[in-house]
Amino acid sequence: MNIFKTLALGAGLSGLLLSTAYAEGLQGKVIGFSQIGSESGWRAAETSVTKAVAAELGIDLKFADAQQKQENQIKAIRGFIAQGVDAILVAPVVATGWEEVLTEAKEANIPVVLLDRGIEGPEDLYLTSVASDQVKEGRVAGEWLVNAVADKQCNVVELQGTVGSSPAINRKQGFEEALAGKANLAIIRSQTGDFTRSKGKEVMEGFLKAEGGGANICAVYAHNDDMAVGAIQAIKDAGLKPGTDILVVSIDAVPDIFAAMVAGEANATVELTPNMAGPAFEALDAYLNGGTVPEKFIITESKLYTPADDPQGEYDRRKGLGY
Ligand code: AHR
Repeated sequence: MNIFKTLALGAGLSGLLLSTAYAEGLQGKVIGFSQIGSESGWRAAETSVTKAVAAELGIDLKFADAQQKQENQIKAIRGFIAQGVDAILVAPVVATGWEEVLTEAKEANIPVVLLDRGIEGPEDLYLTSVASDQVKEGRVAGEWLVNAVADKQCNVVELQGTVGSSPAINRKQGFEEALAGKANLAIIRSQTGDFTRSKGKEVMEGFLKAEGGGANICAVYAHNDDMAVGAIQAIKDAGLKPGTDILVVSIDAVPDIFAAMVAGEANATVELTPNMAGPAFEALDAYLNGGTVPEKFIITESKLYTPADDPQGEYDRRKGLGY
């Protein structure tokens, strides 16, 4: 049995308890974690899961919340280097601008693991990257929509994630790939909602106003569920039925999107596991204790969920995970 893989989502946070026999490898290690912030339910769950797994493994986790600012992340990473931590986890808010600070970590011989978002830059600046295939996530969402509308004419509005972040770039690309060559489908508006519920609502309100109160919109594609939940509220406020008048497809699989599916207000989501820490700590354990260099990219699953997939059960399964 592998402790890092026993982290079953269904077990909830209390189910993360790990046998100490498996937990010796990283016990007492000091690991810095530069987290982006708390823009979404998914992000909150990733933070909760990371802290819980670290505690179970006896890791001294130094947590730094960057409040969405790259400069804060760079400062935190420099602080971790100065403290001489054993390793650093970083969820990079944007894709560019990391070379200098990651070179400093490399020169200090501190392995860096990227969590959930990628960077543009030399691959030797990090030990491994634990993330989903974000282009695939966008493609899965797009393919769902292509099948759902069949031959019907469909104008789509898109709520993008944080500008310059890898999921915003890649989820847009994957969705566009799925729609390529489909004459009946067009993305008529696309704007960032910053991965937040409030901005998703605000931007959707603008889309609805600009598009005949929503009459010209057939579907909304949101780069995360939180923006989709905000958009659902905006659609309801405009007197329309989300999930019926305007289809809603998004990414993350947080409990609230399953609650929306139960209410008939959301149509599809693509799961992003909040357990990036399990594979990251497993890779660090093997590396720090035996010099085993992991795969450069550890890719997590991207599973599609629709109302046919027991949304109430999925809600119940996730609600204890810190979302
Ligand atoms: O990087 C992962 C994305 O960041 C999640 O999909 C989103 O909810 C979060 O804010």
